[in-house]
Amino acid sequence: MIKYLVIGDPVSHSRSPKMQNAAFEKCGLSSPYGIRHVKPEELPQFIEYARNHFRGVNLTVPHKQMVFPLVDELTSRAKCCKSVNTLLIENGHILGDSTDGVGLERALMHNFSLPVKGKRFFFAGAGGAARATAIHFATAGAKSITFANRTESKAREIINDITALGSDCICSFVAPQDRAGMLDAIKNCDCIIQATSLGLKDDDPPPFDLELLEANPALVIFDTIYKNTKLLQRAKELGIPCSGGKEMLIQQGAESFRLWTQQEPDLDAMRNGFELPPGGVEV
Ligand code: ATR
Repeated sequence: MIKYLVIGDPVSHSRSPKMQNAAFEKCGLSSPYGIRHVKPEELPQFIEYARNHFRGVNLTVPHKQMVFPLVDELTSRAKCCKSVNTLLIENGHILGDSTDGVGLERALMHNFSLPVKGKRFFFAGAGGAARATAIHFATAGAKSITFANRTESKAREIINDITALGSDCICSFVAPQDRAGMLDAIKNCDCIIQATSLGLKDDDPPPFDLELLEANPALVIFDTIYKNTKLLQRAKELGIPCSGGKEMLIQQGAESFRLWTQQEPDLDAMRNGFELPPGGVEV
């Protein structure tokens, strides 16, 4: 019987069912994780139905913010990030959590042995993915975060939220077209997080001028897209350690699994169960 679901609009691309069911099967819990297309206007009705029919839900675009007023309780990390990607439902009570930030933090440790604490980050992008992960990084002890984004106001909102949390993380904004500012920011970071949606389409431009990477071959690059993007191709040419977004998906899903089951998932089973979407490439 389906007890867990991923919902989104669109959602058919989601890798979560195969990945989560691989972990559930390893624990002898058959395949209780399904998928459902829920449009924004259907979300309130779906949440009320879920209250009495499911134990866990993962939410993807565009529901991560919209679900906020519909849950009964939020974990502190969901409150800080103003984003919810996981629901735990117990006796009709709905708890909202955000596992994206910790998912990226663990992915950096797994892929590069890079801790968040004390490190300097450069985020390309200030949309939903950047918001949830950067705010988590600030609360997890990142030394600094510079945001480069087409729309400055979105980066400023994240920076204001980080400041309001009383974090010691030093935050700044640089316009992607400000070459000197970008050069300075890239020179002075330990890790680039590519969190724009650029790269999903093959003819997308890179998120910034890739020549800038030559300024700092000592950094590492994590692209949240799971394709061999132009950014990753150039990084590989320059010998810069880099990876695509698969491990973040695995790790955020593993954290949801822990919340629901109080059990440790078999991460390798989840990695093996994860199938890249059409056109996806493991990087
Ligand atoms: P997600 O939930 O995947 O983060 P999102 O919230 O729509 O999606 O954010 C998309 C990110 O990609 C934003 O940083 C967006 O920049 P803006 O804030 O300026 O919109 C960035 N992005 C998308 N298309 C872009 C483009 N053509 N050029 C530059 N940045 C782009």
